[in-house]
Amino acid sequence: MIRRVLPSALLVLLVLMVLPFAWHALTRPVLALQGVPEALDRLFHPGAPLSNLAIYAHMITGAVITATVPLQLLPVIRRRAPRLHRLSGYTLATTAVFTGLAGLLYIALQGTVGGPWMSGWFALYGALMILAASNTVYHAIDKDVTRHRRWALRLMVLAVGSYLYRLHYGLWFATTGGIGVDDFHGPFDRAMVWAFYLPYLALLELWFLGERRLSRKPT
Ligand code: HEM
Repeated sequence: MIRRVLPSALLVLLVLMVLPFAWHALTRPVLALQGVPEALDRLFHPGAPLSNLAIYAHMITGAVITATVPLQLLPVIRRRAPRLHRLSGYTLATTAVFTGLAGLLYIALQGTVGGPWMSGWFALYGALMILAASNTVYHAIDKDVTRHRRWALRLMVLAVGSYLYRLHYGLWFATTGGIGVDDFHGPFDRAMVWAFYLPYLALLELWFLGERRLSRKPT
């Protein structure tokens, strides 16, 4: 019983944890439109409508995937409402591809506050998100359930990555007061630009490896 309920409980808990950040990402573009100075800050570039549109639109679509990709993995919906799972799956994959593309466009046009080092790792993050979303859909259409599931889990890790980035900073400040943080150029900043997604993806690959080994074991 617990083994059946636990994954769903964890997914719902994850959604509850990311909600405040998703709300922040969703409302920031609205506040920017209203001209609230804190929402405009360094990401708004006067006279650059394309990069402004890209960065604020990616926040909205990013908020949507952060809060809803974990729900997409709920077994009960997959089993009981497969049509809903398919429809929301296409929508979320498209939203994730858009988020990645818009983030990449902003990086190409404006770079990032952390310079080329941060831009490179954020660009890889965006590229991986596009790759994961495309492969999730591709393997679903191909009816390859195993690969579909693996890519969907990779997509979920990436979708909550932006939340994890902020969570890492929050925990670091709470425990150390911010050692190594220096306006996006300190050692902690330079590690965090990859540490919010690569270690989690690596752990997931280890999990898949374990599953493969188990499934090969004779019973
Ligand atoms: C997963 C969902 C995502 C959400 C919810 C999200 C949300 C946000 C938010 C709220 C900001 C404003 C920064 C702040 O909090 O002060 C931001 C900045 C940014 N995001 Fe995302 N984002 C997501 C995914 C991505 C992806 C996939 C990329 C990669 C292409 C990306 C690239 C960027 C860049 C380049 C910035 C500006 C960095 C800077 O110079 O300050 N984001 N994002």
